[in-house]
Amino acid sequence: MSPFPLHKKEGKEMQEKLQALKVQALAELEAVQTPQELEEFRVRYMGKKGSLTELLRGMGSLPAEERPKMGQLVNELRQLLDGALTERAGALQKSLQEQKLKEEKLDVTMPGKTKPIGGLHPLNVVLNDVIDIFQSMGFDVVDGPEVETDHYNFEALNVPQDHPARDMQDTFYLAENLLLRTQTSAAQIRTMEQRKPPIRIICPGRVFRADEVDATHSPVFHQIEGLVVDKGVTMCDLKGVLEQFAHEIYGPDTKVKFRPSFFPFTEPSVEVDVSCSECGGKGCRVCKDSGWIEILGAGMVHPRVLSGCGIDPEEYSGFAFGIGLDRLTTTRYKISDIRLLFENDLRFLEQFDK
Ligand code: PHE
Repeated sequence: MSPFPLHKKEGKEMQEKLQALKVQALAELEAVQTPQELEEFRVRYMGKKGSLTELLRGMGSLPAEERPKMGQLVNELRQLLDGALTERAGALQKSLQEQKLKEEKLDVTMPGKTKPIGGLHPLNVVLNDVIDIFQSMGFDVVDGPEVETDHYNFEALNVPQDHPARDMQDTFYLAENLLLRTQTSAAQIRTMEQRKPPIRIICPGRVFRADEVDATHSPVFHQIEGLVVDKGVTMCDLKGVLEQFAHEIYGPDTKVKFRPSFFPFTEPSVEVDVSCSECGGKGCRVCKDSGWIEILGAGMVHPRVLSGCGIDPEEYSGFAFGIGLDRLTTTRYKISDIRLLFENDLRFLEQFDK
């Protein structure tokens, strides 16, 4: 028996298989809808274990003279499928993009969404102004602890134990000699212990007193202490600095009144009022019909306080002041209740720092 017909038969079988594979592959490719299905198709036919690769392997059983012809046919089919695959991939991408464009609408005229960002608390808005004013006059800003010793808050400020002046400030004690500072004046002593004259500082901060809470009182409030010590400092310098401050905060037409007062650590002592910025001095709700608003206490540093800090009162003199930041803020913004400053209600806070 001549081997040829047998070969022919096998060759023909393979050719038919090839033809069937082509028809099936092209039909499947047509049905592919997603990039993932396309990849699965590629693996199924052209991958390492794909149908076409298997067909190529099967060529080993063909007689040698049949192989080149069959090889050529398989390669032709591979090229055909390669081309069809690329074409299908392009078409698929295009239709996906068209679908996306149809579904996603972008309205460029729509207003953007704004995210709320934090703003400064009104106390900080005013404090920043105060700091600017004093810095422009050559003052440094210093910080001091809120938990103080009896020494810094009272003793060194010429308020010994059992002194009646202690009753002026109802104190939160943490331990026998430890307390929440009732005044930023404690910073005067700390500064004079650390620096040599000339001294020009302000110290803003929180202070604490066991007061009943109402529209004008809070157990936590804020002061800005000021201290100047140098040779030849007089009451005139005190007046000049505080008048300048009042005019910058409340406007150049503001009148400033110095009333005699008493503080154990200053001599002489004054309290300073400014004409009411709301009514111009005629009397209104803000100034409780007096025409004046008290904003700070001040005075010439008591010689005993200077010498207690190792500064010779014969050689140096100084003045100090303590500004009430809460009062400054409520009068500037016409805030009727100090409690609003501490409740952190966003509807209130959002009105400032604009
Ligand atoms: N510490 C005083 C108070 O709290 C204010 C003050 C400060 C007075 C500095 C004079 C000098 O009332």
